[in-house]
Amino acid sequence: MGTEVDAAFVQAPEHRPKPTIVEAQGIPLIDLSGPIDDVVREIGSACSEWGFFQVINHGVTPDTRRRIESTAREFFALPPEEKRRVKRNEVRVLGYYDTEHTKNVRDWKEVFDFTVEDPTLMPASFDPHDKEVATWSNQWPQNTPKLRETCQEYAQEVKKLSIKLMELIAVSIGLPATRFNGFFKDETSFIRLNHYPPCPIPHLALGVGRHKDAGALTVLAQDDVGGLEVKRKSDGEWIRVKPTPDAFIINVGDMIQVWSNERYESVEHRVMVNSERERFSVPFFLNPAHYTMIKPLEELTDEQNPAKYRAYNWGKFFATRKASNFKKLDVENIQISHFKLSE
Ligand code: OGA
Ligand code: NI
Repeated sequence: MGTEVDAAFVQAPEHRPKPTIVEAQGIPLIDLSGPIDDVVREIGSACSEWGFFQVINHGVTPDTRRRIESTAREFFALPPEEKRRVKRNEVRVLGYYDTEHTKNVRDWKEVFDFTVEDPTLMPASFDPHDKEVATWSNQWPQNTPKLRETCQEYAQEVKKLSIKLMELIAVSIGLPATRFNGFFKDETSFIRLNHYPPCPIPHLALGVGRHKDAGALTVLAQDDVGGLEVKRKSDGEWIRVKPTPDAFIINVGDMIQVWSNERYESVEHRVMVNSERERFSVPFFLNPAHYTMIKPLEELTDEQNPAKYRAYNWGKFFATRKASNFKKLDVENIQISHFKLSE
């Protein structure tokens, strides 16, 4: 990544970071080892008031957490030619890249993506008429067997946590705990190692531009640098999520918004960078099988409360989103609002 100011990174004035940081007062911190009724209640109110919360005593060992953090450091410290060997392209969509665009502005970051299931089945293209299915396989750098092992172990532990969270969320909306579990057979979940290098233009660029996560749920590990900002539902203010050692940050994805018929909403967030310290983060994106049709759950809709969305195919949605993040397109990024039914 060069140091001269590249216009591709520059956010429009209204989306630039603010000079003053408002730190999170009230993004809930939930102790998952507490009494189950309390946990369910706290998760329910966090989901409806914030769409974001942090969890502690979540069952992922501090050792696993430290290992993935040092693995992320190790990966991004590899020589550029080693990283290029596992670089993503339009056919091999997993692996390394440093040219992601969010809403057509380039992000100040480099990433490494791998799926939880290897291989993962996905639509071959975003064309809705193309029924062909492709096989996504992970790309691992050479001569780093421990890196691969650490990533896979991390995936298994965090996956368990993500399912437990889906169960708590289900109960919080009055559904049976396992209501969502069937969607995650043949899951398309993936993990991303994020590296945000120091940035010479932190007042103009963002590590990740404002966006919502498209999947079901995100379980994010961030280091102690900080930079994640969440758009507060009550007033639209950008609020910094203060790093809490060993906690995970959880956010509701678009899919929970649709399944719950907007009882819970996914919330915009973005990442600020700084000129001094590099930052690492590791999101786990819990996603269902590619063939899943996402629509409001029948038990949450009736004549008084009709479905707010028409059904959409997750695999096609995701393939469309991926294509637009890969290169700058002239089309608007696909959003769940495109499937919204008028009221
Ligand atoms: C993301 C994201 C936040 C962070 O990758 O979708 O929101 O803190 N990351 O890196
Ligand atoms: Ni995100």
